[in-house]
Parts: sequence; structure tokens; C-alpha cells
Amino acid sequence: FSLRNFNTFGLESTASFFAEVSSVEELTEILLDPVWQQKPKFILGGGSNVLFTQNVNALVIHPVIKGIEKIKEDEDHMWLKAGAGEGWHEFVMHCVSHNFGGVENLSLIPGTVGAAPMQNIGAYGVEIKDVVESVEAVSIESGIKRIFSKEECEFGYRESVFKKALKNQYVVTGVTFVLDKKPVLNIGYGDVQKTLLEMNVTSPTIQDVSQAVIAIRRSKLPDPAQIGNAGSFFKNPEIPSEQYNSLKNIFPEMPGYVVSQTMVKVPAGWLIEQAGWKGYRQGAIGVHQKQALVLVNYGGGNGNEIRALAGTIQDSVEAKYGIRLSPEVNFI
Ligand code: EPU
Repeated sequence: FSLRNFNTFGLESTASFFAEVSSVEELTEILLDPVWQQKPKFILGGGSNVLFTQNVNALVIHPVIKGIEKIKEDEDHMWLKAGAGEGWHEFVMHCVSHNFGGVENLSLIPGTVGAAPMQNIGAYGVEIKDVVESVEAVSIESGIKRIFSKEECEFGYRESVFKKALKNQYVVTGVTFVLDKKPVLNIGYGDVQKTLLEMNVTSPTIQDVSQAVIAIRRSKLPDPAQIGNAGSFFKNPEIPSEQYNSLKNIFPEMPGYVVSQTMVKVPAGWLIEQAGWKGYRQGAIGVHQKQALVLVNYGGGNGNEIRALAGTIQDSVEAKYGIRLSPEVNFI
């Protein structure tokens, strides 16, 4: 079964077995079936954060569990539960159109609702952890459903318990969000402010913020439907303040955001651009022209070429700045 249309890099990879599951019951049935119990399994959501470097010798489970339902509401908040197979952006649009605030800054992020908590997706000053109430997931081994509170998800920057201690152990089947009925806007991010001004918006609504974010993303990030990519390929590294200060003496232009008393976050896109890689192309693959943090497949590239390029970029940035970038994308 070809996974080509199931990963945003558009890479060719063959799954030994493939199952779409549209309910928790269907999922449990497959997980507990003696035939499948022995086989290795791989959970694939929207495929927007994976790099296939080989075939997948496993049963690939693709959750298509749909539905957005109201759980409860009070004067200020609305609790919504969305199925893992809902498109992330479609869920955001649902919230924006009903004036439920909290996810508008996360407009146009590719992928599914179920994949979103795995790496605590984030953009323009908001992370999904800010709006998650709980995550429903099913144990791959036992087929038993478990509700994870926000704390149990152990969210961090592009991290969660599902990528760490519980890696490959659970299938996310649904996420419950708590949204604001009296939205508080988060427009501190420079690009968002600038774009709202360009749109001549003086008192922005969440619809305006969503529009601004969509415009920014369209201007910088390649549309996976046109050019294969998985968004940011690397995480933005956090380095000790002393290291940042000494680098700043040598490279006065180097941007950095203080994240704690001892750590500074440096934009990986800047490091990669300064190391000369922005717009680099090698056959079918390359580094995006407008965002150096995004590696692209122009069509016909393969995962190993992209992995090799990523390694070369890591070495080159490390040689120049002494900082080793770590991938955000999962290598399969
Ligand atoms: N920059 C460059 N050259 C580049 C790209 C970036 O110099 O080619 C520098 C600029 O100084 C710019 C700064 O990097 O001001 C930040 O760039 P940008 O606002 O584009 O954000 P980012 O740090 O590169 C992160 C997330 C994105 C998210 C944006 C907006 C990570 C790994 N990436 O990118 O998330 O959309 O911020 O909040 O944290 C993703 O995870 O796939 C993703 C796209």
C-alpha cells in the first residue's frame, strides 16, 4: 500500500498493511485481533511531520475518527471534543466561525487533530497546550482507552509524553479543548501585528487574527499540496545564556529570545540562512527559498536524500556556531 498521498513530503514508501479506523471500537477491534496483535504497528495521522526513508514493515493505522461535539459550556468557556481524524485547520475554522477563541493563531497548520498533541503544535505565540483540556487515547498493547489530563500529557516545546516516555504506545483518538467565548487575542508576535496593520484592522477579532496568520503562512511556508514539505524541519535550539552572549560578540546580528533565566532560544532558520543554505537546491530536494527552516521535495525526491541534506546542514551550522540542531520531524 503506497503511503505517498499520506505524507506531506510526498515521499514514496510502502506499508505492509494499512487500516483506516473510523471509531474507537474499530480501533480496539484491530488492536485486539490475534492476527494483528503480533505485528508491529505504526500510527499515521496527517503525515505532516514524518520523513519516510524506507518502507514501513508494519500495520499502518490511520485514524479517520470524525466529529466535533460540544461537551459543556459556561459563561466564559466552551468545551469541544474533536475526533483525531478531523483536519486541524478545519477544526480551527469551526472555532473561528463560532467565535470560540484560543486556536486562531494556529490557523493553516497541516495535519490532524490527533497528531496535534503529539508534538504540542505551536505558532505565533500560541501552543496547543494552552487550550487542551484532555487527550483521549487507546493503548496499542491492551486496547484500553485512557484519558490523559493536560498535566499527564507533559507538554513542552514541540514535545509531549507521547513522543517521550509513552512513544509508540498510544493512539490518540480524540482531544477535548477549552475555548474562550470572550476571546482574548494573542497578537504580540511581530509578524501578526504588522500584518494586521497592513490589513487596516484597528480592533481585531479572532477572524482577523486567523486571516493574518493565514496570510503570513502563505507568504513564507510552501503549500504541501504544491511543494512537498513538513513545515519546520528542525526545532529552534535553546542554548545557555553565556553561550549566546559569546556568540553575540562574534555575530552581533544573531537574534535570540530569552526563554528562562539561563536559556536563550535562537531561530534555527536564521542559523541555516547564515550558513548559506537558504534556497539551496540539489536535484529534487532543497531548502525553501522563503524559510530556511523548511526542507522541500520538489517532486521525485526521496527521504534518504532529505535526511542526508539535513545532516549536512546540521554539520555546517555546528561548524559555524557550535550549535547542533535537532530535527522536529520524525524519521521513519
Ligand atoms: N529567520 C531567518 N531566515 C529564515 C527563517 C527565519 O533569518 O529563513 C529568522 C528571522 O529572524 C525570523 C525568525 O527567524 O524573525 C523567526 O522566523 P519565523 O517567524 O518564520 O518562525 P520560526 O522560528 O522559523 C517557528 C515555528 C513554526 C511557526 C513559527 C511562527 C519551530 C520549529 N517552528 O518558526 O512552526 O509557524 O515559529 O510561530 O518552532 C512547524 O513547527 O512546522 C512550524 C512551521
